[in-house]
Amino acid sequence: MTQTAPAAFSVSPALKAVYQRDGFVHVPSIISREEASEFRAAALSATARLGAISDNAMFRQSVNVWREDSAMAKLTQHPNVAAAAEQLAGVALRLWHDQILIKPALSSKPTEFHQDQPYWPHSASTHPISAWIALVDVPVERGCMTFIPEAQGRTELPPTSLAAQQGFFDVAPDLMWSARVTVPLRAGDCTFHHGRCPHMATPNFTDEARVAHVVIFVDAATIYTGSKHVVTDPLGLEAGAVLDGEMFPRASSFTR
Ligand code: SIN
Ligand code: NI
Repeated sequence: MTQTAPAAFSVSPALKAVYQRDGFVHVPSIISREEASEFRAAALSATARLGAISDNAMFRQSVNVWREDSAMAKLTQHPNVAAAAEQLAGVALRLWHDQILIKPALSSKPTEFHQDQPYWPHSASTHPISAWIALVDVPVERGCMTFIPEAQGRTELPPTSLAAQQGFFDVAPDLMWSARVTVPLRAGDCTFHHGRCPHMATPNFTDEARVAHVVIFVDAATIYTGSKHVVTDPLGLEAGAVLDGEMFPRASSFTR
């Protein structure tokens, strides 16, 4: 008897329609609970070993861990994550960067409303998409994500501070009155959000750290603008060139 390869992860047309309408979607069990538990341990040891670019009551943030930690690279390059991202975005993607985001127990602040894309030195990227993967159960009380649906078309907005409660609504006052959707996740669940979907994360009131891993993809055709960014500053890239090279592999290379 011949063995058949396991079916590639597939997003239903209904889920894709929700993502394209709302700018975010909840995908349950992108990895198993057992995998989540193993990646939680790997994420904690990776941040302890590699250090963090931000470490405060909002979160401890370690960026591009896949470059330095072979255990976490397996999650960043997980075929389910890459397959779902490309199916939802509907275009060829490449990795921008990953990040472990740990909201500490008890002492945590919210991550205030913002869009992600205004922070990035990118142009020609209209389908940026982030996979936010829960490595522990994340009820509302532990720092889950909240989204403003149907606002990903707001591509004119500038970057705003993650720490400023009113910051985002100062630049988009009309969105203050939009309905919000809060999405608690079980370990192994994921949300995908568009880089222009406004989102925040609630504080962590629990006595357990919130451990999330975020894998960020952008259009394969993304152009590097030359603006400052922690990921690209050391690379000596040419402004105006396609964001390319071993730091930014194609999502399709994770699904083969
Ligand atoms: C968070 O998890 O605290 C924020 C994540 C994000 O802004 O994408
Ligand atoms: Ni964000």
